[in-house]
Amino acid sequence: MAKRIDISGLSAFYGNHKAIEDISMTVEPRSVTAFIGPSGCGKSTFLRTLNRMHEVTPGGRVEGKVLLDDENLYASNVDPVTVRRTVGMVFQRPNPFPTMSIFDNVAAGLRLNGSYRKSELNDVVEKSLRGANLWNEVKDRLNKPGSGLSGGQQQRLCIARAIAVEPQVLLMDEPCSALDPISTLAIEDLIGELKERFTIVIVTHNMQQAARVSDRTAFFNLAAVGKPGRLIEIDETERIFSNPSVQATEDYISGRFG
Ligand SMILES: Nc1ncnc2c1ncn2[C@@H]1O[C@H](COP(=O)(O)OP(=O)(O)OP(=O)(O)O)[C@@H](O)[C@H]1O
Ligand SMILES: [Mg+2]
Repeated sequence: MAKRIDISGLSAFYGNHKAIEDISMTVEPRSVTAFIGPSGCGKSTFLRTLNRMHEVTPGGRVEGKVLLDDENLYASNVDPVTVRRTVGMVFQRPNPFPTMSIFDNVAAGLRLNGSYRKSELNDVVEKSLRGANLWNEVKDRLNKPGSGLSGGQQQRLCIARAIAVEPQVLLMDEPCSALDPISTLAIEDLIGELKERFTIVIVTHNMQQAARVSDRTAFFNLAAVGKPGRLIEIDETERIFSNPSVQATEDYISGRFG
């Protein structure tokens, strides 16, 4: 289940442009790690290197290592498709498959893997929807399209879809930024529950959210426009928000940035 991630000397490029540089850090299992930092400092890029999605972008290339419980995700014998199954992702905009029913959205990953027995499918879909705190709202309309749900429900549907394949790590890139405050709180509660089973990394621009949901916080910054983003510091969330070690972190969290 939940796995530890150990990143060392990681840089990521888009063609000749180096977006992030020399990042080393660890992510503890069954914990929530928040990534914060100004726009363009490479948070999303970094997140996508953790499940080999970065290289899907034309010109996308990575240097360095990402170990998942001691296995390098970038070793030549590792299949990126397997990595993406193990390290799931939830995006900023809820992106349910629009023509698919709620049921089929959740079942999609399992069907793709071919790793289920038909009798199991109903159980897994229910369990995942319950896990995403959505079951009660949709149990009577599982065959209706996923696109007919509210934004917050769609995001929980995407979380259900992501957890249905039992990943070990869940990456979330600003999962609440398109949601209203009530849906945001629902997702935050859910993150608190999910961390008992998964290793979670969340990117957020919302400092209160980082403070509420995460155990550790990593602050990223750019030395200057056009320079690659770097990890400035990572620490217990409480410490980052009360007494960070680096002045730039203090400036950022107190809004004195730029
Ligand atoms: N597909 C792409 N092709 C080329 N450059 C890209 C691409 N995506 C991102 N970049 C560049 O990589 C750098 C980091 O972008 P990234 O999206 O990772 O930042 P971010 O910290 O997630 O920003 P935001 O907070 O605005 O989401 C930026 O300079 C950006 O312009
Ligand atoms: Mg981003």
